[in-house]
Formats: sequence, C-alpha cells, structure tokens
Amino acid sequence: MTRTLFPETDLSLDALRALQLERLRSALRHAWENQAPYRARCDAAGVHPDDLRTLDDLRRFPFTTKADLRDAYPFGMFAIPREKCVRIHASSGTTGRPTVVGYSARDIALWAELMARSLHAGGARPGDIIHNAYGYGLFTGGLGAHYGAERLGCTVVPMSGGFGERQVQLIREFGARVVLMTPSYMLAVAEEFERQGIDPRDTAMRIGIFGAEPWTEGMRREIETRTGIDAVDIFGLSEVMGPGVACEFVESKDGPTVWEDHFYPEIVDPETGQPVADGQPGELVFTSLTKEAMPVIRYRTRDLTRLLPGSVTAMRRMARITGRSDDMLIVRGVNLFPSQVEEQILRDPRLTGHYLIELTRTGALDDLKVRVEAREALDPAALAEAATGLAKHLKGMCGLSAEIEIVEPGGVERSMGKARRVIDKRPRD
Ligand code: DLL
Repeated sequence: MTRTLFPETDLSLDALRALQLERLRSALRHAWENQAPYRARCDAAGVHPDDLRTLDDLRRFPFTTKADLRDAYPFGMFAIPREKCVRIHASSGTTGRPTVVGYSARDIALWAELMARSLHAGGARPGDIIHNAYGYGLFTGGLGAHYGAERLGCTVVPMSGGFGERQVQLIREFGARVVLMTPSYMLAVAEEFERQGIDPRDTAMRIGIFGAEPWTEGMRREIETRTGIDAVDIFGLSEVMGPGVACEFVESKDGPTVWEDHFYPEIVDPETGQPVADGQPGELVFTSLTKEAMPVIRYRTRDLTRLLPGSVTAMRRMARITGRSDDMLIVRGVNLFPSQVEEQILRDPRLTGHYLIELTRTGALDDLKVRVEAREALDPAALAEAATGLAKHLKGMCGLSAEIEIVEPGGVERSMGKARRVIDKRPRD
C-alpha cells in the first residue's frame, strides 16, 4: 500500500544509487555555485563538483558543521535569494545564536511529501484524525508534521504542547487514531489518562509517532504497555529539513528508514572524520540531494548511530540514536550517555522513564546521582530493593557507582517538548 501512494519507496537498490548519483551531482553544483561559504571550503580543499564521478567520491568533499551555519547567521547559507524563501525555522542553540534554516516553496512541498511518507510508514492513513502535539513555532516539529498530515489527507488537530488535561480530552473527544509528540511527553500524557481514570485502549488512539529526542527500546515498551498503542520512531533535524528525514515502518519497528532518495547518509568516525563501513557506529552525516533554499553537503549531525541494510524498502535504516557526541557525559573518565541510564532504569517495571541525571563534584571526584520516578508509591523495602538493583545494573553496565533516589509519582519535572535529562553542576575546568 505504501507502494501505490509513495512509489519512490519501491525503487530497487540499483535504481536508487543511480538516482542518488544524478541528484548528488546537481546538489553539489548548486551548493558550489550559490553557497559562498561552502564554495570557499571546496576551494580550500582543492575539490570541484566535477570531481564527483561516483557516490564514493563524496568523501573527498568538505563537511558542513553547525559552526558554519552559525557563522553565516542569519541568512548567509541561503542558496537562493532571501525573497524566494517562503519560510524560516530556527533551532534554539543552547548557547548563543540559533541556527536558521530557510525553505523555498518547493522545499516546503517536498517536506510535506516526505512527512506524509513518514506518517504513512508509521501507520497513518488518509482520513485519520491526527493529534499533533509537537510544538508549533520556530521548532520544525509542529508545522513540519502538520503539513505532512494534511498532505496525506488526514484531519489535523494542531494542538501543540502543553495542557496535559486538554491533550487527553481532545484525543478522546475528537477520536484521534494517531498522536504525534516527543516520547517523554507521551509518557506524561499516558499518566494524565491514568489520573483521569481513562483507559487509552477505550479511545480511538492506536499509533504514536515519536521523535525529536533520543529514546530507548525500554521507553517504547513502557509507552506501548501503558497505552496499548504502537510506538513508532521518527527522526529529523532542522538543519537538514525537520521531522521526516527518516521514519520507522509500523509493521517492522526496526529503526527509521532514511529517505535516501532525498538525503544521502554517511557514518564517520567522530574523531577523524573518516567514513566507516555500514553497520559500524559513528557520527551521522547527511547530504541533501534536492533542497533548494539551503542545501547541506556532508552536514555533521553529531548524532551517533549505525546504518543498517534496508528491510521494508531498499533504502537503508538507521539504528536508534544512542546520543549526540555533545551529550556524552564524561564521569570519572567514563563515557556515559543518558540513553544508557534509561535502558537500565526501564529494566525494572516499578520504575518509569521520568528521570534526571545530576552530576556534582566533591574534591576531585565526580558524583553521579540518578533521580527516577516510581510508577506507584513503594513501601520502604521495595524502594530500597529497586534502588540497590538499579545501582547494581548501572555499575555492571559502565562501572560507575551512582546514588539512586527514587521519588514518588510526579516527583520529576515534566517537559512538553524535548526532555531535559542532565543537570551538570560540576565546576567548569
Ligand atoms: O527535533 C525535528 C523533529 C521533530 C524530529 C519532531 C522528529 C520529530 P531539531 O530541533 O533540529 O529537530 O533537533 C534535531 O534532535 O539531531 C537529534 O539529536 C534529535 N532527534 C530528533 N529525532 C530523534 C529521534 C527536530 N527519533 C535533533 N531519536 C537531532 C533520537 C532524535 N534523537
């Protein structure tokens, strides 16, 4: 059925590679001719678009980094006149300037198409009611998902984040079959259902398409058991487009399929920048093949993952993002990602996916504390047992001793969008 609505997903591997090469040639030329900062990089590296003869030649071209986009703030990376841009989005940098992205009318139409393809892969069908709780605004989640849902022929409820009670009320009363939000926020919505004494299984809700932050298989299990829906992983980033760069198929749930006919993925060693073979872990790098307003050539996402062979289609899949290279914590010399902590927490059914990692320092030593919420109030014996169990699992996983604090339901602050998982109170060296 994907076949009839989205025939591109039917491409054979050979046809896909041929299409990518053809598109890559013109994408490189477009960037080189119209994006002054990228052309300067190419000149410095002594490469020219004519040097690309095979897909493998791409590795000879320079990377684009977040710093390049920041240096060009606000519109210096646009490859078409600003007046031809119909929309701007921006991702809030944790420090300093936001990263600005521009879209031509054709870019917006393509984004809607790829987002429709993603929603369809995730299980949405024309005619469905889609409850969209991704934030609307400069963040790409809300509007990106919105246009895609309309394009697929769905009825969109443009809810945005916030108002837990209203989320539940409107999901029920409007009869949404598909809900869109971050996985951490879905957990909060699931609890709101419980608080109101409503079983989500008694509503029309069947599918959730979740992304915008790292999450784990444990989190998928938790959402699915609590709500009875299928929880599907969607990936994207504003610099490359927004949501809908890759999405899982609901029937396989085996990692997001990268829409490779429009975004060419590579994995590189984050230290050396050298490409690694498919299946090997490293940093995800994307080249846009068809974007007009702001093409990106070899954009370093900082997201760490692996490329897997195609399953439902010939296009490759990505494994779950384990974290971002800049989210990696170094605790007493040990590398640690929040998602690894999440995996250990969710091994215990008494604990939930609401957690916070706190880092402090006494003298020269880092202290690791994990605050996690219990599913229901626990008696002191169960509390102690759950805390000891988690400490043991963490120690076994990474060798670090952690102080565990298990708090009552509601004891960890909820986020409406991307969850904040880490508070680092260590003095900066
Ligand atoms: O988060 C776009 C998006 C919106 C994706 C809604 C999916 C759903 P940014 O704000 O630019 O864009 O953040 C992009 O979020 O580089 C990853 O680090 C992270 N991210 C996005 N999706 C996933 C996912 C949107 N499924 C950054 N799993 C990316 C893990 C994700 N991390």
